[in-house]
Amino acid sequence: MQKPALQNDRYLRALQKQPVDRTPVWMMRQAGRYLPEYKASRAEAGDFMSLCRNTELACEVTLQPLRRFDLDAAILFSDILTIPDAMGLELYFETGEGPKFAKPITTTRQIEQLTVPDMGSDLKYVTDAVSLIRQELQGKVPLIGFSGSPWTLATYMVEGGSTKNFSKVKKLMFAEPEAMHQLLDILADSVIAYLNAQIAAGAQSVMVFDTWGGVLSPRDYREFSLAYMEKIVRGVTKRSEDRDVPITLFTKNGGQWLEAMADAGSTALGIDWTTDLADARSRVGNQVALQGNMDPSVLYASPQRIEAEVKQILASYGHGTGHVFNLGHGIHPEVDPEHAGAFIEAIHKHSPKYHR
Ligand code: CP3
Repeated sequence: MQKPALQNDRYLRALQKQPVDRTPVWMMRQAGRYLPEYKASRAEAGDFMSLCRNTELACEVTLQPLRRFDLDAAILFSDILTIPDAMGLELYFETGEGPKFAKPITTTRQIEQLTVPDMGSDLKYVTDAVSLIRQELQGKVPLIGFSGSPWTLATYMVEGGSTKNFSKVKKLMFAEPEAMHQLLDILADSVIAYLNAQIAAGAQSVMVFDTWGGVLSPRDYREFSLAYMEKIVRGVTKRSEDRDVPITLFTKNGGQWLEAMADAGSTALGIDWTTDLADARSRVGNQVALQGNMDPSVLYASPQRIEAEVKQILASYGHGTGHVFNLGHGIHPEVDPEHAGAFIEAIHKHSPKYHR
């Protein structure tokens, strides 16, 4: 089916360092619990995974933030833990406790038995959502697809859920590195198949979330996280619908090894607020575009304080293209939606002068 032409391609252009009229913006977790309409849809679905599996509702919550705010991209509503769920680990969410797996990885035997999930069956609900969202967007803004990094997915699979000290996954990494590599390799192959299925269904850009790479030593980061993201960059579809498909790598707390990340070959790097954008640009800005990096907690402060922070971040990146404004991590559920609106307005108001 012929897709409508893209009306706003600022986000794709900035990622590829083509000139833009203002800095594009979207927010990590822009569809989420800070929006009352999201909470209503989630209640209608019953629970989080039912929301992800319901094509119409997944599409609806993807579009909700775009109705409120003048955002430059939509991001698929789903989760990074859909892959391990499709591998048979059975994902569920316990209220207030975050994600959990009913059948976490506890033995190397389980790792040997893992296979790449079938995109046409086990994860079809995700590509169905992508197709419907593209249709409903009508070319308004581009759609971002995403996945977790192999290392980040492995942490949840081995720990069985969220963790503070990563003891189980690090025990596997240090005591049985071969089994760890086997797990990461099958996850990398799964992520490639998953992102390519999203691109085939209509995702116009993809992002890899490495939420937990920053808990590793620099050497272990390269061996157990970055190497597999590099494999993903190599394996992901580069062009679709006659356009390049940009890929963004985001390692939370990854500021100290940006040079190594830039060498992995992605279009862009996501950075959090613990790294200064001017510093990041001078270190890797010739190689990659940069996405970020306001501390999401600034959104708790007044609209005036938010505007001041936006101005500082725009000034720290400086003139020219190659910057996608975002939060350095997901928006918090307690944030007042009006403050998110003030954040986006401030970028619209103050960024055009950096593009003249
Ligand atoms: O950005 C978006 O709007 C798209 C949707 C999206 C979700 N999760 C929806 C979600 C994306 C891109 C993710 C990625 C994700 N999921 C990551 C990587 C990014 C990051 O935040 O570091 C991680 C680590 C996960 C795993 C995950 N999913 C956790 C830890 C949680 C619980 C956290 C919490 O806030 O309670 C989830 C659930 C989840 N995924 C929610 C949303 C909106 C909240 C679920 C709810 O409605 O209760």
